[in-house]
Amino acid sequence: MFDTPDLRAYGPADFPAVLGLIGEAFGGETPESVRFAVSASNTTTFVAQVGGRLAGVAMAIAFGRTAWLGNVVVSPTHRRRGLGFALTERALQHARKEAETVLLLALGDAQRVYERLGFVDDGLYGTWVRPDPPAAAGQSASAAHGSQVGSAQDRAAAEQCLALDRRATGEDRRAYLDHFMAVVRIAYADDAEEHAGAAAGYSARLPWGTGAIIADDPRVAASLVGDMLLAFPGTRFEFPDANEAGCRLASGLGLVRVKENLRMRLGPPVAGFRPQCIYKALTPAVG
Ligand SMILES: CC(C)(COP(=O)(O)OP(=O)(O)OC[C@H]1O[C@@H](n2cnc3c(N)ncnc32)[C@H](O)[C@@H]1OP(=O)(O)O)[C@@H](O)C(=O)NCCC(=O)NCCS
Repeated sequence: MFDTPDLRAYGPADFPAVLGLIGEAFGGETPESVRFAVSASNTTTFVAQVGGRLAGVAMAIAFGRTAWLGNVVVSPTHRRRGLGFALTERALQHARKEAETVLLLALGDAQRVYERLGFVDDGLYGTWVRPDPPAAAGQSASAAHGSQVGSAQDRAAAEQCLALDRRATGEDRRAYLDHFMAVVRIAYADDAEEHAGAAAGYSARLPWGTGAIIADDPRVAASLVGDMLLAFPGTRFEFPDANEAGCRLASGLGLVRVKENLRMRLGPPVAGFRPQCIYKALTPAVG
């Protein structure tokens, strides 16, 4: 007989156990990234407790019309008893209160859990890495035609970033992006004369060594990706396979596609989602 699991909202005292679960399950997460995830105001975290110990976690991340489920983990000793399903169902129930479409990036083994809840295929994201990253340079060349957004106070630049992001994802991700405006760079296309001053891409270098890259133009993307690799040589690039220019760019830079996640959705396709503009997902949980 198993103890009955108790599903409840996360509390700060759960942090060490949640960090342990997430850190063990996924590479690339750090205490800072998990701390950000659990404390973001648009994120609701649920945990499962069995026999007084934390056995699982799942997060719902709200962006208004859309929401993401992420960081779904059950401890190895408590798997295959329905906990993953129950936690995901709970997070989904919460996410659906506001969002029309709920999204997630699923690793192979987890897809069946999500399919049983009604999620469908929304396209593959590959994860690309440098096979033998040199040590971090600690600095970077600035994007050839880029200019840095100085700080979150620079509202006009921040709005350019949010508009670029919306044009690529079809989502309003300001609840996350507003935290990172101090590390956002806006880039402009070479031939921007006819639409002078129009931003063609942005990158956000998150403090824990990951970050987003969105670009309308593959040449602008190449400059932002090259710049990110100089700053964070070991960083992983998660982006849709539908971004063919991105796949060519990554291969040309010597990156290797090491795994894939299936983007799944519950609800109508996100209007305005343009996977060909996404060169690096914002976080492993939010495509
Ligand atoms: C994915 C994950 C969260 C699933 O957790 P889980 O608690 O094992 O999930 P469930 O028990 O609800 O379902 C898993 C399987 O167990 C089966 N199962 C559920 N209750 C069961 C029971 N009482 N007896 C036997 N099998 C059972 C389910 O049918 C399902 O089988 P299937 O994969 O053949 O469809 C867990 O494997 C995990 O943490 N993996 C590592 C991290 C990860 O990949 N997270 C997902 C990222 S997208």
